[in-house]
Amino acid sequence: MAGLMRQALHSVRGAVKQLVVGHHRRSRVVLFSDTTLRDGEQMPGATLEPEEKLRIALALEAAGVHSLDAGFPASSPADVLAIQKMVGRVKRPVLTALCRTVKGDVDAAEQALAGNPVHKRGVSLFVGTSPLHRQHKLQKTEAEILKLIAETVSYAAERFAIVAFSPEDASRTEVPFLCECYRQAITAGATTIGFPDTVGILTPEKAAEFIRRIQDGVPNIERALLAVHFHNDLGLAVANTLACIAEGANVVQCTVGGIGERAGNASLEEVAMALALHQDQYGRAGKIDTTKLAPLCELVSELTGIAISPMKPISGANIFATEAGIHQDGLLKNPDTYLPYRPEKVGAAGIRLVLGRHSGRRAVAHRLKEIGVADPTEAQIAAVLDGIKRLPKGAAIDDATLRGLLESDSSSAESSADTIPTSVSRVAV
Ligand code: KIV
Ligand code: ZN
Repeated sequence: MAGLMRQALHSVRGAVKQLVVGHHRRSRVVLFSDTTLRDGEQMPGATLEPEEKLRIALALEAAGVHSLDAGFPASSPADVLAIQKMVGRVKRPVLTALCRTVKGDVDAAEQALAGNPVHKRGVSLFVGTSPLHRQHKLQKTEAEILKLIAETVSYAAERFAIVAFSPEDASRTEVPFLCECYRQAITAGATTIGFPDTVGILTPEKAAEFIRRIQDGVPNIERALLAVHFHNDLGLAVANTLACIAEGANVVQCTVGGIGERAGNASLEEVAMALALHQDQYGRAGKIDTTKLAPLCELVSELTGIAISPMKPISGANIFATEAGIHQDGLLKNPDTYLPYRPEKVGAAGIRLVLGRHSGRRAVAHRLKEIGVADPTEAQIAAVLDGIKRLPKGAAIDDATLRGLLESDSSSAESSADTIPTSVSRVAV
């Protein structure tokens, strides 16, 4: 009797899982799975304290991510602590814990995630599948790897409703074997199968080809979601992620700022913005609130101590700044002339017109008005611009410098490097 009850419960749970997977597949929404707190933190120097991870997790929740790779409980007590802090506090995203194909890892994940609702906790299992990993790292045959997958995924599926399985180094694994790994993982109860390009070796065309071959070669693929995970060793992680979205991948794994192993991971903010701006192309949407992106990047940078490059798309200091006269003139006439999207779309502070050797009359006039020169004459503007262009490399062009240039001829103007480093205009949009 008890056996029958258990069997009935198992079938009901299986049916519910299939309903959820089916719903996500049909909806065609691109689900964002953030791995900043796990793969991102693997970046040398990016260590985060549990309390800091909680702050980032809450910000990711506010930005609308679907799931969070919250840590690797078997790897460190700090990861367990961080996950426990998130349980009950981070409510909307599914919290997942990374596990090797080792039953003890699944047990550690179960303990760390205890208390989170069944539909908001999961495990993400991985094992190396490429010839390199099989022969040199694991010393296991294909048959042994398949057995390991079947046994540990089914062990996980008895304990979790949400189970992801990823063949590590998938992009260097033979496609027929890769498909067999996925087939067996799904049979054993995996609800998501992941495609990690562990060493970031693929191009968009090859990544798309993999996705097509997996969709064609895994007979039970409708029973699981397909997730993609790209590293950025060729600077192609975002492009590869987008190529797989175009091919129908359901889940994209990314990190904020693209931080992660070696050259990092696909940058969440770049994928989210590309998707938001090109829905006509992809015919699919994500659920990320793009206005949260720049502050999210700043938070992750502040807490990890990993500086944001000035040129970093979405969040870099120069993304809405220009020193070039033609661009400054255009931006003052209409911000869209030289921007792909407005700062408020990503929650950034605003446009900055930086005065320098490449600036033009209009930006100088604009700044002079901002610093209180009500109606600068053409001669004043020309004198200031001429003075700016004569200043030595590295000289600070701050408001005092501008006033100095106004009051004297340009050759006598001095820069005061110990005050505000640049004279910067804001453009109202
Ligand atoms: O890049 C990778 O292969 C990973 C695995 C743990 C999925 O991060
Ligand atoms: Zn990775």
